[in-house]
Amino acid sequence: MQCLSALRQQEQLDLIIANGENAANGSGITPEIYRELIKAGVDGITLGDHIYRRGAIMSILEAESNIVKPANYPSQAPGRDWMVLETEAGERVAVFSLLGRVFMKPVDCPWTAAERVLSSLPDDVQTILLDLHAEATSDMQLMGRYLDGRVTAVLGTHTHVPTADECILPGGTAFQCDVGMTGPYDSILGRKIDRVIETTTTFRPTSFDVASGDVRLSGTIVDVDQQTGRATGIRRLVVNQQRADEMTMRPEKNEEILEQNGEIPKYPMTKEARNPNDET
Ligand SMILES: [Fe+2]
Repeated sequence: MQCLSALRQQEQLDLIIANGENAANGSGITPEIYRELIKAGVDGITLGDHIYRRGAIMSILEAESNIVKPANYPSQAPGRDWMVLETEAGERVAVFSLLGRVFMKPVDCPWTAAERVLSSLPDDVQTILLDLHAEATSDMQLMGRYLDGRVTAVLGTHTHVPTADECILPGGTAFQCDVGMTGPYDSILGRKIDRVIETTTTFRPTSFDVASGDVRLSGTIVDVDQQTGRATGIRRLVVNQQRADEMTMRPEKNEEILEQNGEIPKYPMTKEARNPNDET
């Protein structure tokens, strides 16, 4: 969270969306963490299968307009199905999330829910972002292709592992199976390695405490044509602790400092924005 404001400036981010479902010690989100994320510069929060793990968040879900539940949860479940956020320039962006159904707890049909959300959105909103919270890459690809040309981006979360398949689909929808987690990468999906291995190999129950090593911010940046709502670029982003420290100290001098230190990219593994359609 410490580098979000510097990151917004350096990358000229109009809007920052975070999936916060693991923010409270690895599972769920509390009202305090919700407020911290918003204060740190997050504009809107999506969640996932651990949405109600901390029950106190339900009042926030019912009261606030910048946090959503998965739209294929039952209509009686606390929270709104979609939100419309506004950039500083006044551009409106719709955001919603859906849960996948492969290797996940049973939920309502994501395809039907996607249609319901799209038909409910205000007509003047061109930019639409879907956080697809799913386990299987087949689910992600299916939804990406299903909504290609009708939403700006289908970006996956839930597996905690960033995938190298970011692209712009033929209809103009930015797609990636999973944008990765922000958290400790010296871990197994964010949990202490020895605990997970012990329980897996011996069946002895242990507490799956959150790990602490190699913390990284992981995400994906999408460039958008506001007139059409279609994506024009997509790239992965990883900021490790050292980079975050440097950005926080002297954000405006970050590139200069890295050059002086003989370091290469601003963020490891980051690629230039690209549109695969332009490369052919
Ligand atoms: Fe999840």
